[in-house]
Amino acid sequence: MAKIDFKKQFAKATAQAFQTVYPDIFKKQGEEQVFDNEFIYENLEKPKDPQLGRFAFPVFRYAKLLNDNPNEIAAKIAHKNNQLIKNTSESVPFEAVATGGFINAKINAEIEAQQTLEEILTKSSEYGSSKKGKGHKILVEYSSPNIAKPFGIGHLRTTILGNSLRRIFRKLGYEAIGINYLGDWGTQFGKMIVAYKKWGKKNKNTVADLYDLYVKIHREAEQDNKLNDEARAAFKKLEDGDKEITALWEYFKTISWAEFERIYNLMDIEFDWVTGESFLNDKMEQVIDRLKEAKLTSISEGALIVELDDPQLPPCLLKKADGATLYATRDLAGLLYRWDKYKFDEALYVVGSAQAVHFKQVFKVIDLLEKAENIPENNRIDGRAKHIDFGWVKFGDKMMSTRQGNIIFLEDVINKAVALAKEKIKEKNPDLKNIEETALTIGVGAVIFSQLSVRRQKDVNFDWNEVLNFEGETGPYLQYTHARLCSLIRNYHEEIVSDINYSLLHNEEEKRIIEHLSDFPELVHEAAKNYEPNFIATYLLKLSGAFNKFYQRKKEDGKIDKIISDDKELTSARMALVKAVQIILKEGLYLLGIKAPEEM
Ligand code: ARG
Repeated sequence: MAKIDFKKQFAKATAQAFQTVYPDIFKKQGEEQVFDNEFIYENLEKPKDPQLGRFAFPVFRYAKLLNDNPNEIAAKIAHKNNQLIKNTSESVPFEAVATGGFINAKINAEIEAQQTLEEILTKSSEYGSSKKGKGHKILVEYSSPNIAKPFGIGHLRTTILGNSLRRIFRKLGYEAIGINYLGDWGTQFGKMIVAYKKWGKKNKNTVADLYDLYVKIHREAEQDNKLNDEARAAFKKLEDGDKEITALWEYFKTISWAEFERIYNLMDIEFDWVTGESFLNDKMEQVIDRLKEAKLTSISEGALIVELDDPQLPPCLLKKADGATLYATRDLAGLLYRWDKYKFDEALYVVGSAQAVHFKQVFKVIDLLEKAENIPENNRIDGRAKHIDFGWVKFGDKMMSTRQGNIIFLEDVINKAVALAKEKIKEKNPDLKNIEETALTIGVGAVIFSQLSVRRQKDVNFDWNEVLNFEGETGPYLQYTHARLCSLIRNYHEEIVSDINYSLLHNEEEKRIIEHLSDFPELVHEAAKNYEPNFIATYLLKLSGAFNKFYQRKKEDGKIDKIISDDKELTSARMALVKAVQIILKEGLYLLGIKAPEEM
């Protein structure tokens, strides 16, 4: 039997109650809310005190609109709600209760426990998966580091957010395509080539070596303008396809990719398409022609631009006076190319908020172009391309030495996190078999979680003492909870079944866990809808917190109420709960991009 969507049912009954009690309210539709199923559903809240109910609709907000007293409204609607429910044939698992301006839904805990646990234990990691996104294509561009520059922490958050979003959308049945758009083109490569020819090692170069050269030529060029001329000439040669110069550029790419790939492997980051800015070199002229044809371009101080009919936005630069194309030109060509290739429903760009204006400009140009060309609305990119922005990562600490040019190398961060994790494991569990592997899982998990522990638009303060704290709100805490669950499962030598006596799971701690588990599918949807993996991160902390309370629960005599006890029936009921939490914790961590160790 499929799980009942309690929330939906309650919303439906409440909407019906509103329509019966306040039949006039639909006449006010034009100006105010429509009290239909969807509206009620969207506005259901979680009561602060879970004893009050599972969901609550805040009627007091609509007292003015309904021209009635909030308590009265709540009482009338609750009453009607219950009447309506009683008249339906199915057994209904909730009751509506009016409390201080709210209508609360009290759900029959035993039914919810049974439905939720049965579903989790049968579907396992597929619980919460859906086919909602079936037939929908969503491009997720993330990471996109720059060639010949180290993978710094500047690219950490995009990598982690994007990788997680790709997993979340896949869980919901979308065809999510992860794209890595490398910064492999631009005039800076002229400088790189000159520097390499002058000072570079012949072989065994690392990205750090290349970056040294880059920093050096920058410094020298400030004194010696000739170098800039040389760099321009070298870039021109690269553009013209000069064999030797192209080979050098390829060499830089190879070295860089080898390092990037090592980091992606360490962190378990996946892509479906690795591309780069250079891929668009032969695709920009066409876009420029279209824009000219549409009469959208103009010349300003020798440069080719598109004026945007938005006072907030500076014009979009297509070509500099010397004819060189720009970052924005490539993004325009790239977006049109992606559209032709994928006909996506959505194209996400997971890029820091520093580039907000850039993306507004790019999307605006596309919008103007499509309108000028009279492209039918259902065939437009406009509205489908989205900048998924995020805040800064602040490394306000002294434990990390920055290497050249003030960049903090991501690999250094990971290595340090792994080393710290290893120390902790040795301290806590020196007999653990695969310490190396576990330390890697925990170190990487800590770094990943640090990026998802706040809403994406907020800044992250990376603090070494915090991110690895096994008791704090961290990745290792969640992993540790998972290992604890696995250990319980190992110590219970019986099979875990869902054919249990659900009425035994009645204490408050157990109820809270079941409620969280029951909420998981909706939460994954919310995370997708808001492009916000942090919802899942926060959820997992709550679930783990609820489990740990249950784990440490004391009986009336003050002794720990052990999960595995002599009471066989109770133990098997509780172990079903344990198994369900373990499944969801592991799946939630997976959606964030974090591995769940069985022992640590
Ligand atoms: N490589 C760029 C950077 O490091 C980010 C690319 C973002 N994506 C894009 N389509 N512009 O700043």
